[in-house]
Amino acid sequence: MSFWNRRKAIDTAAGDPAHALKKTLSWYHLIALGVGAIVGTGIYTLTGVGAGLAGPGVMLSFLIAGAVCACAALCYAELSTMIPASGSAYTYSYVAMGEPVAWFVGWSLILEYTLVCAAVAVGWSAHATGLFRMAGFPEFLLAGPHVEFADGTHGLVNLPAVIISFAVAGLLALGTKESATVNMVLVVIKIAALGLFVVLCLPAFDAGHFTPFMPQGFAAHTVAGAAGPDAIKVGVMAAASLIFFAFYGFDAVSTAAEETKNPKRDLTIGIVGSMLICTLIYMLVAAVAIGASRAEVFSKSEAPLVFILETLQHPKMAQLVALAAVVALPTVILAFMYGQSRIFFVMARDGLLPPALSRVNAKTGTPVLMTLLTGALSALLSGLLSLKDIAELANAGTLAAFIAVGLSVIVLRVRDPSRPRVFATPLWQLVAPGAILGCLYLFYSLPAKTQRYFLYAHLIGAAVYFLYGVRRSALARAEAGKG
Ligand code: ALA
Repeated sequence: MSFWNRRKAIDTAAGDPAHALKKTLSWYHLIALGVGAIVGTGIYTLTGVGAGLAGPGVMLSFLIAGAVCACAALCYAELSTMIPASGSAYTYSYVAMGEPVAWFVGWSLILEYTLVCAAVAVGWSAHATGLFRMAGFPEFLLAGPHVEFADGTHGLVNLPAVIISFAVAGLLALGTKESATVNMVLVVIKIAALGLFVVLCLPAFDAGHFTPFMPQGFAAHTVAGAAGPDAIKVGVMAAASLIFFAFYGFDAVSTAAEETKNPKRDLTIGIVGSMLICTLIYMLVAAVAIGASRAEVFSKSEAPLVFILETLQHPKMAQLVALAAVVALPTVILAFMYGQSRIFFVMARDGLLPPALSRVNAKTGTPVLMTLLTGALSALLSGLLSLKDIAELANAGTLAAFIAVGLSVIVLRVRDPSRPRVFATPLWQLVAPGAILGCLYLFYSLPAKTQRYFLYAHLIGAAVYFLYGVRRSALARAEAGKG
């Protein structure tokens, strides 16, 4: 059989029902899980960059990104209840579309997870710099080389981002896990800080700040006169393709599918509910930010919410919001580094990556090598690159995975229509193509530079597959055994 036709069977991918997890979760647990994994650097930092690209129209960007993610999330829910095995989009693609596509998706997820860790580390740093300054760190150690200071000199390395990357990787390697209680406390802190921001901004609200609503228009385009391969794109869609970052993390909800009491009801409410809540919170935060400041003013800040509160003369409250971000954001890194270890583990188990990468340390019971490797990569990227560049490349990887999930739903509906679906995507004929087309449009709206780096990353990925996985995968070995 050609490698192109190698597919995993659903029943073996789904694992052994004897090892099924206990059904203890209800919809409100899922919403807490979802909001906990989703709310992070996106709203706390990228709101500013997004507003810079779209003006007040960034609210529309949030709405579009949220709607696309809701479609993708519903597709995730169908597949995760049908194939309750680790590996998420990678495993679904292996079942639906075969090994090469699965490899492409797995490689995209590795790219995504590492870059999300790096992006959240940069976002964390933007809120923690005050503390580092107080501790005596010089400015050039608080920003990467892309940052130019007022005196014309440049930053050297974003040391706080490097430190948090290694700190979280270290904790994870030692066996730290996110506990449900800690998650709940952090959800409350994150949302309370956003609530505080909204309340403090409201008295300064000026509706005049909303005109013109879309100063850069709707579609993503490069600014006139700024042609060239690295020119940034502006417009509502350019901002949507960036702040899309703020919405993902909900695979956390769909991976808990096995543990929900009433998957049909709980997953629909849990997934659609967390998407709806996040979209509403994000639009509200963006609206009051624009009303209280002006998109072109706060878009320059790396910690826009803190900046706005400072300009409104609420220095203490600004510190409180910064502190909430400092306390809560590391768990987003923790969740994604943990996800990374699962992807590596499943891909190594399938023979597509060397088993040494996912070897579990006898003492700590965790994949130490892989975790530290992810930490080091995250440290390197976050120490040297800008948040926008990192987040956009993370988005490219995520969009690829979401497209694969939408396609997997369609392929399996056509190929295996009568298989029982614990959770069936409502109106799948609209929702799955909606996820695919929406993600394609967001991908198209990303800067050309990001699309190019995504291509390079996948050329390397393809080389790794053809040098290693194509012959060593478990399915390849099974075929060779038969032949
Ligand atoms: N959605 C997550 C965040 O915004 C990745 O930090």
